[in-house]
Amino acid sequence: MRADPVGAVGRSEHFYFEERAATRANFSARGVSGRMIKTVEWTEEGVRMIDQRRLPNEEKYLMLRSCDEVAEAIRTMVVRGAPAIGVAAAMGLAVGMKQAVATNVADLSYDFDFMCGMMSATRPTAVNLFWAIERMRERFRRACSETDDVEEIKRALVSEAKQIFEDDIAANRALGRFGGELIPDGATILTHCNAGALATAGDYGTALGVVRGARDAGKRVAVIADETRPFLQGARLTAWELAKDEIPVTVITDNMAGHVMKQGKVDAVVVGADRIAANGDAANKIGTYMVAVLAREHSIPFYVAAPVSTVDLNVSTGEQIPIEERDAREVTHLRDQPLTPAGVPAHNPAFDVTPNGLIAAIITDKGVARQPYTASLKKLVES
Ligand code: MRU
Repeated sequence: MRADPVGAVGRSEHFYFEERAATRANFSARGVSGRMIKTVEWTEEGVRMIDQRRLPNEEKYLMLRSCDEVAEAIRTMVVRGAPAIGVAAAMGLAVGMKQAVATNVADLSYDFDFMCGMMSATRPTAVNLFWAIERMRERFRRACSETDDVEEIKRALVSEAKQIFEDDIAANRALGRFGGELIPDGATILTHCNAGALATAGDYGTALGVVRGARDAGKRVAVIADETRPFLQGARLTAWELAKDEIPVTVITDNMAGHVMKQGKVDAVVVGADRIAANGDAANKIGTYMVAVLAREHSIPFYVAAPVSTVDLNVSTGEQIPIEERDAREVTHLRDQPLTPAGVPAHNPAFDVTPNGLIAAIITDKGVARQPYTASLKKLVES
């Protein structure tokens, strides 16, 4: 066992890589094809998004025509994943503004504040949501200082939302390039939840952006996806998008992670983040902390991949990050099927915080941050 979890990777026997070639062919034969996944899209009609609750069984797209509908889609997990939530919120505000009936700046400003408040109340942990709302607020303030033509202000907000979308795609491409360099040829990467195209504007993703970055640099990579109880983002979403992209993927239940690590089948862990504190503590999907502890025990490097918009310098440590508590029904039921005895309570924190000491590096769109994170993250955020 390696003593240094920050050391070089590449020790597995590529068990998964070899084994998955056959499954890749099977998946293609079932008719899943096409590479670019469009998670959230701006259209003149409204905000179009894939309904992630229905994946992998059904690939259904929804057209959301009001700010309320987009807010509801975020709250109910039609769209999820920190950067995707931010992009969707910006587009929701833009669509809301486009429809506003206000004829003067004061009334438009009142409507805009109301919509920002509604959007902010959807989910508490992912800072990208608040970052995107603040960016839209800033654009609104600037537009109002330049003109009192409400139609021009509305156009400025639509264009800002489209820019947030473009910036997210570009950020994840950059992050993928930086992260791809850390992954050796032939590596098997374990990931938790879904931090892929479906968790961002589309295309690359963050943790899966690192996988795609390595693949696009010509390396052979395979992924082990934790199923990620209770919402099953790993089993349903990560497996779906990697198979669609023809990247070898094997699903395991969350409680198998220690076993596969002990067997030497994992070369690196790469996960996304919903909010990273100034000291590098990282909030991500519940269960991530457990994976980080296991990775440390087995001397496997544990990487967090996120754009700098996920870094919250206003929060000094992970203890200050609000953790969303979701409906206990997600734990007690599988769709409509009860799993636990009626009346027995369940606890459902949606995220946990991995202390910075367990993180080998934080891969961002501006570069790779290493310990001490307080200095390295600040430098990247301000660059
Ligand atoms: O509850 P979710 O599905 O929104 O949680 C998503 C995650 O925890 C992701 O890992 C995180 O948002 C990073 S996405 C690039």
